[in-house]
Amino acid sequence: MLDRPTISDAEYDKLYRELLRLEEEYPTLRTADSPTQRVGAEPSSQLVKHTHLVPMLSLSNAFNDEELRAWEERLVRMAGDDVRRSGYNCELKIDGAAVSLTYREGVLVEGATRGNGVIGESVTANLRTIRSVPLRLRGSDHPFIMEIRGEVYMPFSGFERMNEERVAAGDPVFANPRNAAAGALRQLDPKITQSRPLSFFGYAIALPDGDDLPVSTQNELLDLLESWGIPVAPHRRCCVGLTDVYEWASDVEHKIRGSLDFAIDGGVVKVNSLALWPELGVVGGREPRYAIARKFAPDIAETTLRAIEVNVGRTGTINPYAVLDAVEIGGAQVKLATLHNFDLVARKDLRVGDVVQVKRAGEVIPQIIGPVPDKRDAKHPPERYTPPTHCPSCKTKLVTGAELGMLYCPNFDCPGRQLESLVHFASRGAMDIRGLSYARITQLVDADLVRDAADLYDLKASQLVELERFAEKSAWQLVEAIQASKSQPLSKLLFALGIANIGEIAAKQIAKRFGTMDAIANASVDDVLAIHGMGDTLAESLVSWFSDKKTRKLIERLRERGLNFEEPQTHTGSALKGATVVITGTLPTLSREEASALVESNGGRISSSVSKKTRFVVAGEEAGSKLEKARQLGVEVIDEAELLRRVRG
Ligand code: IVH
Repeated sequence: MLDRPTISDAEYDKLYRELLRLEEEYPTLRTADSPTQRVGAEPSSQLVKHTHLVPMLSLSNAFNDEELRAWEERLVRMAGDDVRRSGYNCELKIDGAAVSLTYREGVLVEGATRGNGVIGESVTANLRTIRSVPLRLRGSDHPFIMEIRGEVYMPFSGFERMNEERVAAGDPVFANPRNAAAGALRQLDPKITQSRPLSFFGYAIALPDGDDLPVSTQNELLDLLESWGIPVAPHRRCCVGLTDVYEWASDVEHKIRGSLDFAIDGGVVKVNSLALWPELGVVGGREPRYAIARKFAPDIAETTLRAIEVNVGRTGTINPYAVLDAVEIGGAQVKLATLHNFDLVARKDLRVGDVVQVKRAGEVIPQIIGPVPDKRDAKHPPERYTPPTHCPSCKTKLVTGAELGMLYCPNFDCPGRQLESLVHFASRGAMDIRGLSYARITQLVDADLVRDAADLYDLKASQLVELERFAEKSAWQLVEAIQASKSQPLSKLLFALGIANIGEIAAKQIAKRFGTMDAIANASVDDVLAIHGMGDTLAESLVSWFSDKKTRKLIERLRERGLNFEEPQTHTGSALKGATVVITGTLPTLSREEASALVESNGGRISSSVSKKTRFVVAGEEAGSKLEKARQLGVEVIDEAELLRRVRG
């Protein structure tokens, strides 16, 4: 239901814009639950504390059926057979970040993280950006004030997509969806939260002392939440007795878990009758007795470490990884695990031949916890691991770098490095050469047709058809795609070169500032540092890359092949033909002159005063009377980002 919109996106956009306009005109009509309030809040400089209405407690754990039985026995001793008669409600234990949403008369007014359980951090603007968090509850009969508790999580699908994008942008990846969700919630800028694929499931309601809910069981409570439009996790079950609970837990662990698009770290079993909850009390002020977490066997398995191998990254990093006897963990076959760096291998004293414990962190990237000491042959222990001294690909002597435990291949011409560099060069955020996959690049390198990026531009279809699995059509298409990439803007090319520390965003800023490849190549560290947000490491990395004779040669060869070495500074076109535009206030990145030039080069005219003839006003910070005037006249007001969108079409 929640994922099935009842109107088309276009209709939604139209209504949304109409609403924006009305709210700009009549600000007093703007309500806390208006869809326009999903973003809009300015970044804050720090998070504000929120005291929970009722503390957010934790749960004690049961690791097997036996421990669940012991839990029930204790409850029966305290509250008699009513506990058994009430039955149990079983729910998935979502592995995300716990939050509390305050609704006043059905309208979301505040949202906070769990914090220490008593005081959390107010992250209202961020929570509002999550589409599955209702800004206003459905129905009419809501408590005057209440906190709906639940879990914000990031679906695996979104998590993987986001990490891929981060890799492409040169940003560090998140280890698991839980960290990613928690990190996204604590952002100071809600726009960042909005760009992350977050979702929400509710499971509890907290009311002020003395207030009551119109339901008497946990099962009905979840139904009530759903009737209000709060998403509730699937696969919940109302169980008559523990036998039912055991069966549910086993189903979840062995059948359901693998099919979910979100992480769970167990189930939660709750005494169904709400009336019994206060009577059962709280252990140590932290863990209520009415509920218990049924944890699954951890996602850890033992297997044998067969080899420690290394590969070479595009910047020359030597990355160790473990080759394992295949083992199933959490429903997936694991044969390889990351080892991060050589310092970690040494600290854990991992030796080839050891029995090791492997876990899947956040169920995504397998990691090695360490060797099982008891299983190491005491008489004939395997030999200690010694890191390689020479590059596995080109045999050049490796060097150590600034980062602890890391080794690097310093050879710019190393085939291993070049393969990775070419893959990066062709990737989506870089030169975006369709059809130039990892497999294709390997094939081209193996056939000795390509060594570096410049060679790509010499490829002919007649050479490609000679290779295996290359039909004439795909050969032509690939050559065309490669040729088309020549006109990518300088910023893409700069990123594509794979210079250490230069991600997509930095590349864009650098290209914009310097304008041409030659200006970048001749820039000093200080010139680069003058760009807002650039640090020493980045500046030095850029300058030293361009000072290398070999990289200079590559740049010359790319120039000879006709690649675009310029960053388009303004977008020219006719997108604003005939439009009268007023600019007011300070825009975030463009100066007044730049913005005016942009409007004019796209066919628009700049005016200094707002009238009915004004097509739109571009407003920045501290916009004053012109903005007022525009609102009075009902003239559209946009920000810089929207202006850029319009001229780019
Ligand atoms: S009930 C007093 N139900 O698990 C009990 N918690 O270990 C309040 N969690 O901090 C929690 N799914 O963040 C409950 N269906 C569920 C849950 C759930 C996930 C989390 C919650 C809590 C933690 C306790």
